[in-house]
Amino acid sequence: MLNIAVFASGRGSNFEALQRAIVEQNISASIVVVISNNSSSGVLTLAQSFGIPALHISQRQYSDTKLFRQKVLDTLSAFNVNFIVLAGYMKMLDAEIIRTFPDKIINIHPALLPKFGGEGMYGMNVHRAVIDAHEKESGATVHYVNEAYDEGRIIGQQRVDVSQNETPESLAAKVLAVEHQLLPRVIKMLTEKN
Ligand code: GAR
Repeated sequence: MLNIAVFASGRGSNFEALQRAIVEQNISASIVVVISNNSSSGVLTLAQSFGIPALHISQRQYSDTKLFRQKVLDTLSAFNVNFIVLAGYMKMLDAEIIRTFPDKIINIHPALLPKFGGEGMYGMNVHRAVIDAHEKESGATVHYVNEAYDEGRIIGQQRVDVSQNETPESLAAKVLAVEHQLLPRVIKMLTEKN
């Protein structure tokens, strides 16, 4: 059984898609806590509406990195978390936390890695870069998180076509729609492998 902590910074549509899929498809996993670095993020209200504990934990609340890290680790342990999903988390996860959960942290990225990843490549920046590079296709990638940004082993990808008159906004919407399928599919596959 996966006891998942979702880390997210914004709207939380991937969290919602995953939570709905877990319930509807009877996936042997449970989102036990949602953690956001952003107190006004939609994901926190969304999580509450599902009755899932939603916590605002940000580096800014702590005078040093160690205290912040300890708070996150204590929270994960209090909720018996054994798996972490970064679903639109716009911060680099602390290296010590990554080392504490080897091969137990995944991230969803809105492009076909290894292209269009790395520092600064998040949200709309990614879609703008894809269009500027005249790519014919884009998509979503779910990968393991290691200490190098967006470079962990790829678990799954789903493609979309980039049309001739595509805008960053229209591409973002297309990619998001496949993210909502890909993330639950990967989680389901991982639970079946265990
Ligand atoms: C998603 O498109 C996700 O791939 C992206 O942020 C969006 C979050 O949407 N993540 C990144 O860019 C991370 N590098 P959501 O809050 O609606 O799930």
